[in-house]
Amino acid sequence: MTKINVILGSSRNVSLGKNLLNYLKAHQGEYEQATGAQFNFLEVGSYDLPFFYEDFAPLNNPDRHLKPNEQKWLDDMNAADGYVFLTPEYNHSFPAVLKNAVDYIAGEVNGKPAVIVSYSSNGRGGQFGGLELGPVLTRLGVFILPPQVLIGSVQDNFAADGAVLPDAPSGAYYGKKLLQTAKRIVFYTNLFKDHPFDANK
Ligand SMILES: Cc1cc2nc3c(=O)[nH]c(=O)nc-3n(C[C@H](O)[C@H](O)[C@H](O)COP(=O)(O)O)c2cc1C
Repeated sequence: MTKINVILGSSRNVSLGKNLLNYLKAHQGEYEQATGAQFNFLEVGSYDLPFFYEDFAPLNNPDRHLKPNEQKWLDDMNAADGYVFLTPEYNHSFPAVLKNAVDYIAGEVNGKPAVIVSYSSNGRGGQFGGLELGPVLTRLGVFILPPQVLIGSVQDNFAADGAVLPDAPSGAYYGKKLLQTAKRIVFYTNLFKDHPFDANK
């Protein structure tokens, strides 16, 4: 079965991204029924990764000695066929905690597609955070699917438990957009899975 990881890139206790993540979790059944895929939900903060400290870059290091929590992050990423990254914008980029987690990755995400969903507390939807994340993931062999999905004013649309607020200005609009995003990542993930690149052909 096709597996999609939805990864929250903020580790703040009061992360607004958790509202969005909880919304997606609440709709997991709907997404799985619509796509036939399995959705898993990850938070980079939950792995307690130290600042990257290895002697060699993971892509050039076949002999890594990782602690269980570090290996779990890699195993979880390796187990997925495609990804949805949820990222806010911190000072026109994506959070350092997400960059640190990405720096641990070697081949686990290579050749797999991802959609970037950026979000913010204002109307701009965290666009620069998402735009900066794309090239970093591309370096690791991820195929970033256009377009980036922008979710603005999260706190006006989604409650902490993921419920759509009664007076949400864009609740229905974002609901449709996120369902379409789930369908889009699964569609392209299946294409990639069914047609793996074979360098010897
Ligand atoms: C350190 C920091 C820097 C931020 N920089 C930006 C920014 O450059 N542009 C922007 O639109 N919002 C910025 N924000 C506001 C975020 O959109 C808002 O705080 C959002 O809730 C962050 O996501 P999180 O709560 O999941 O961490 C920043 C927030 C923080 C904490």
